[in-house]
Amino acid sequence: MVNKELKNISPTEKFKKAKRYYFEVIKMELSSLISKYTELPKKDIASAMSKPPSLNMGDVAFPCFNLARIQKKSPKVIAKEMAESLEKLVEKPKIIDKIEAVGGYVNFYFNREIFSEQIYRRIFDNEYTYGVNESGEGKKVVIEMSSPNIAKSFGIGHLRSTIIGEALSRIYAANGYKTIKINYLGDWGTQFGKLIYGLKKWGDLSKLEEDPINYLQDLYIKTNLEINEDVESASKNYFRLMEEGDKEILSIWKKIREYSIKEFNKVYDLLGISFDLVSGESEYSKRGQEIVEELLKRGIAKESKGSIIIDLESEGKSVGILRKSDGTTIYLSRDLAAAVDRKKRYGFDEMIYEVGSEQKLHFQQLFSILDKMGYKWNHQLRHIAHGLYLGKDGKKLSTRQGSSIKMGEIWKYTFDKVTSELRKRQETLLNDEDLEKAKKITRAAIVYGDISNFRENDIKYDLDTIVSMEGDTGPYLLYSYARCKSILRKLSYERPKNPLIIKPTDKEYRLVSKFSEFPEIVLKSRINDDPSTIAKYSMDLAKEFNSFYTQCKVKGSNREEYRAQLIDMYSSVLKNSLNLIGIETVERM
Ligand code: ARG
Repeated sequence: MVNKELKNISPTEKFKKAKRYYFEVIKMELSSLISKYTELPKKDIASAMSKPPSLNMGDVAFPCFNLARIQKKSPKVIAKEMAESLEKLVEKPKIIDKIEAVGGYVNFYFNREIFSEQIYRRIFDNEYTYGVNESGEGKKVVIEMSSPNIAKSFGIGHLRSTIIGEALSRIYAANGYKTIKINYLGDWGTQFGKLIYGLKKWGDLSKLEEDPINYLQDLYIKTNLEINEDVESASKNYFRLMEEGDKEILSIWKKIREYSIKEFNKVYDLLGISFDLVSGESEYSKRGQEIVEELLKRGIAKESKGSIIIDLESEGKSVGILRKSDGTTIYLSRDLAAAVDRKKRYGFDEMIYEVGSEQKLHFQQLFSILDKMGYKWNHQLRHIAHGLYLGKDGKKLSTRQGSSIKMGEIWKYTFDKVTSELRKRQETLLNDEDLEKAKKITRAAIVYGDISNFRENDIKYDLDTIVSMEGDTGPYLLYSYARCKSILRKLSYERPKNPLIIKPTDKEYRLVSKFSEFPEIVLKSRINDDPSTIAKYSMDLAKEFNSFYTQCKVKGSNREEYRAQLIDMYSSVLKNSLNLIGIETVERM
């Protein structure tokens, strides 16, 4: 299992204290002050405040441009007046050292000692939960993710949904939500009619066991090569039989499904990912038919050339097909039934479909039909789309050309690279522990290689880049973490209950300031459904640390104890951050 700590902690139990993260607490406090001088509501003041581009300009700034419009004065003048009157206050909050106007901004400088101590306490009073908030308290989110199609190998397309879905579920959990992860298998549809045709014609069920997926894929390709009207109609007939519950045909289908799930589970084990529910389209064929009937009766859907369709052209969503002319169900109708069922079962507040962007229209149609059926909760559903993986050459990878990369191959290639790198670094043979570590590094490479890209963008996939121990990669981040752990071991560091509090130098303070951003990043990544924010933060943090570490001597310096504390803080925040995107750290590398 990937690190459980953060996932299993209910924010309510352990995090009452952190209803507001520290930065927010300070912002609220400052808003109260500022509101005495302006007509803006406190909330607006707090949300307008931001971090200046450099710490030389203070820790937080309030822009006066909106006020300038209201008061019809220049922002510069307002900032100056406000800074002066705030500076004169007898009861300035302790955390504020200095208030200064710079251009149209009022800049606040924190007391660095107090701020650093507070951040230290927040990181370690609740280790593993630093960064967690309660914004989603009492809410339930269903996250549909992965959802590969059976009888095919687990390819790179579904890898994205799996990795991003997992990250989202962790991020939502860290925001106080109860999460339900559903894997919705593509296990129903006309393609299985073709497959059964192929199996019956050329196949041998006893051979299925050896290498089921490849065997099935070959048969499917063979059927497609043969395709003519007769094959087509025979295949359709097989699918119709499936829908009618034919025992013999269904028993074949069941075998295909079981073998496929076994294969998929190997991938999920490698990635350390599990689900709360594995369901599939097959569960919704019947209920899908009923919904289509209902839509017909209510005049929402209509017949056209024997099919049942719903015209969404006027909303710019084209025409949705709900039932084929041969009476069999279709993807869209099954999704309608699945959505209704999940709402009933889980009473979710939100439901996310983590699916490729090529299905955008499908989901628009789905949400729109639910609306027409009177399900006002359709607003709680979102399609969280991701882009494609492209080849190194920037070209599309498609299954039909046979150039699709299989997850098994990706894993093997990456894992081999990682183990050969580890072999270079140590003289002894790799033992079980090393191999376990290699597995974690491989995961980190694959997961970070994905999540570090904004999900809607296409990714040029280059395994040699993502596995590198240097640069913008998962293995680099693990290395940075492990190096800190090794430094702390060498210093025989033990985390003090009461930290050493001294005035930080600029370099040290930059690091503390970076730590303090983490809780807000967690909140934002949830609001924007964007795990890449966390990946980016992890890398920025590591860079800041690197810059600190190359410039600040630790061992033997008169600030050794203080700097060791900073290293300890860094590794803890980095660990939490990586954990949120599904990457587990290693203690040695
Ligand atoms: N199995 C589908 C595919 O690979 C993805 C399923 C997406 N989820 C959904 N509820 N339609 O294309």
